[in-house]
Amino acid sequence: MSLVSFARKRYTTKAYDASRQVDQATVEQLLELLRLSPSSVNSQPWHFVVASSAEGKARLAKGTQGAFAYNQPKVLDASHVILICTQRDMSDTHLAVLLGQESADGRFRDEAARITQQNTRNSYVNLHRELGDISHWMEKQAYLALGSLLLGAASLGLDATPMEGIDREALDAELGLAERGLSSLVMVSLGYHSDGDFNAALPKSRLPAERVFTRL
Ligand SMILES: Cc1cc2nc3c(=O)[nH]c(=O)nc-3n(C[C@H](O)[C@H](O)[C@H](O)COP(=O)(O)O)c2cc1C
Repeated sequence: MSLVSFARKRYTTKAYDASRQVDQATVEQLLELLRLSPSSVNSQPWHFVVASSAEGKARLAKGTQGAFAYNQPKVLDASHVILICTQRDMSDTHLAVLLGQESADGRFRDEAARITQQNTRNSYVNLHRELGDISHWMEKQAYLALGSLLLGAASLGLDATPMEGIDREALDAELGLAERGLSSLVMVSLGYHSDGDFNAALPKSRLPAERVFTRL
């Protein structure tokens, strides 16, 4: 199947078959897609909380109460649920870890290359600090990972639900994310849809190409 076929086929699942589990090898592929996701200046400002047990999903479901209760069955009945988080700040520690990893991975021919990378990354971080949008900048990077995850899930034959309809404060409190320098951002359920999923049979709806593209 072509990549576009997967993009056409995938859709937001509204009800899961709670009896079906995604096998571990497939889950590991998805996690590797998240880890390999690109980010501006390789900043990787994310962390992923992965729930597969009933207990883990119940904890994530604490972010789907009140106004977000419509998302709760999608969390409890899915096979796996991933909470995408971002860092609260681009700390010096994180910047040092990034540089050390790139060094260990053989990215630098010499010390000058290492310093250039350090300076380039720092200049972007400082720019976004000055603009006052560093959190938003980190969130944009995390949404790239979300896109990879959704298309990747479809290519592996899985159903998925991206959810912004979550109580981020409740999730931060439940998981102690602030203490870890993290904030919850967006959640994704993964698994197999149930027969009761009304969305499975609906046609996809997107704006036409002539409206969304300007070809020069
Ligand atoms: C970032 C993001 C957040 C979303 N949040 C929710 C949500 O909380 N609950 C839900 O049922 N669908 C949610 N959706 C699904 C969208 O409504 C859906 O992607 C859109 O209508 C396009 O339909 P499709 O995904 O079936 O192609 C979200 C989608 C995205 C990309």
